[in-house]
Amino acid sequence: MCGIVGYIGTQEAYPILIKGLKRLEYRGYDSAGVALLNHSNELNVYKAKGKVADLEYSVASKDTSGTIGIAHTRWATHGEPNDANAHPHYSQSSNLALIHNGIIENYMVIKQELLRNEYEFKSSTDTEVLVHFIEYIKETNNVDLCRAVQIAMGEVVGAYAIAILDKNNPDQIIAARKSSPLVIGIGEDEFFLASDATPIIEYTDKVIYIKDEEIAVINRGCPIKILNMTDIEQTPEIKTLEMNLSQLEKGGYPHFMIKEINEQPQTIVDCIRGRVSVEAMDVILSGVLDHKDKFLNAKRIIIVACGTSWHAALIGEHLIEDLCRIPVEVEYASEFRYRNPVLNKEDIVIAISQSGETADTLAAVELAKASGAFIYGICNVVGSSIARATDAGSYIHVGPEIGVASTKAFTGQVTVLSMLALTIAKERKTIEKELYVSLINELAAIPEKMKKVLEKNEIIKDLSKIFTYAHNFIYLGRGYNYPAALEGALKLKEISYIHAEGYPAAEMKHGPIALIDTEMPVVAIATTDRIYEKTISNIQEIKARKGRVIALVTEGDDVVCNIADYCIEVPKTLEYFAPLISAIPLQLLAYYIAVNKGCNVDQPRNLAKSVTVE
Ligand code: AGP
Ligand code: GLU
Repeated sequence: MCGIVGYIGTQEAYPILIKGLKRLEYRGYDSAGVALLNHSNELNVYKAKGKVADLEYSVASKDTSGTIGIAHTRWATHGEPNDANAHPHYSQSSNLALIHNGIIENYMVIKQELLRNEYEFKSSTDTEVLVHFIEYIKETNNVDLCRAVQIAMGEVVGAYAIAILDKNNPDQIIAARKSSPLVIGIGEDEFFLASDATPIIEYTDKVIYIKDEEIAVINRGCPIKILNMTDIEQTPEIKTLEMNLSQLEKGGYPHFMIKEINEQPQTIVDCIRGRVSVEAMDVILSGVLDHKDKFLNAKRIIIVACGTSWHAALIGEHLIEDLCRIPVEVEYASEFRYRNPVLNKEDIVIAISQSGETADTLAAVELAKASGAFIYGICNVVGSSIARATDAGSYIHVGPEIGVASTKAFTGQVTVLSMLALTIAKERKTIEKELYVSLINELAAIPEKMKKVLEKNEIIKDLSKIFTYAHNFIYLGRGYNYPAALEGALKLKEISYIHAEGYPAAEMKHGPIALIDTEMPVVAIATTDRIYEKTISNIQEIKARKGRVIALVTEGDDVVCNIADYCIEVPKTLEYFAPLISAIPLQLLAYYIAVNKGCNVDQPRNLAKSVTVE
């Protein structure tokens, strides 16, 4: 979701801010803006609808000097994307400029009060209400800006990360957060501020993650001060970033998405490193082993997630039920949080999130926490809100994922879930030694098999040309491959805007089969497993109605290849890990169709990488 960048130091702020916004472009946005305090203490605000490049173009002849500034990419929630609604927003006196990520839920009530006090609004945003409100508090209570922000935070309901400049205090940035991420980078005589670490990494690896309801007072040339809402000073925890700059660049690929698809053999190696040992024939997932009793006594596991992470959760359900014999329920975090779910102390709640910032998943974690359940996080972004809010967890260690469409994070999540299931199964003694050994061997072999799948790149690229102008797609799979079918369909709709649905193959005949005609491409995942024969029957049903079948099959399968119109062969694996292999051709197919259509693959329309609003 939107991006926040800030700088205070000895260098010119504008180039750093613009570069920072570009680093955050992957999060998805519709407009951008910057506020700079120049050397004559003038507070200049420039904003433009569109991309960061549009902003740059529109300020080309303007004064962009100054060594302190804040910048923003907006993902509209209140008011359409246009210049007026873009951030930063000035306060009534134009002395303050504020950027905001998130939503102020009670903005209407506050706005009414401000209107009664003759405040004027230039935008339709909740954000402008906030900046006016902060100034109103500052003036009516005769307090400094920091205190005014603290008081405002006590009054506003919602989620926010904010940063403010004050013309009358040209050596200070004030920033605060609640439920929206905010990171501060510490350099030599300079500070950087951002919604995630990507804009910071090229300047410093020393960062502070601001916690919920904390305020950072950043004064030029002074140590940073962190306060809570009641003005008590907090000791900042300085962390060292593990990310490196090359992970944030395309490395010769035309898009981040294709780079990330191709990284998967390596990211799985990184994910299982130190956890899966073929020599010791063991899986050691320390997050689970450190809380062994919880997993041994668990009566039920509930997995909460959204989008692609929810698809990984469905695979986790299969793995855990199959191998550990613990009942598992998979829930959309957004539904779970607003139900009145029955939760017990013996339940384990697993939250899966690439970004670790998804508002719905975070809220589901908080809800589950309140019931006393043990919460386990599976996240990619180190130090993210969900990683910190959970009792224990495992990182997937696949490196930053920049493409909005999740690819390597999905296979990383499934890999962690596989290791989690194996670790619990061994502890609970629900797995035969022979199966345990063969699963470890197979998991270790997955990266090499992924490389083989990636060799199909050209075949899939050619195939994509045939289907570029299809209006609909159906994806079918059964068992472990049913969530893989859902994920394939999601990838296609996200980046190519082609309508696609995933179904359990056998469910077709209960309704969706009515959609099948000569125009309908059907991607059928039919790799060999316990229900392979049944899947073949389902493909026959499609062919009998003249659907066009693209089948994903195990190498050497000529049965399905004789029935289907097109075949993509993938290496044989155990069905437990089938989605790790079948996900890749589906990612490639979606990618090439979207590229053929000229779509913005890395930043698809309307989507944001990290969904920090409900
Ligand atoms: C994936 O391609 C999507 N962009 C989206 O569904 C995503 O998986 C979802 O928003 C959850 O994100 P998270 O894993 O960061 O929580
Ligand atoms: N709610 C604010 C707006 O619509 C901020 C949205 C964002 O996070 O970019 O302007």
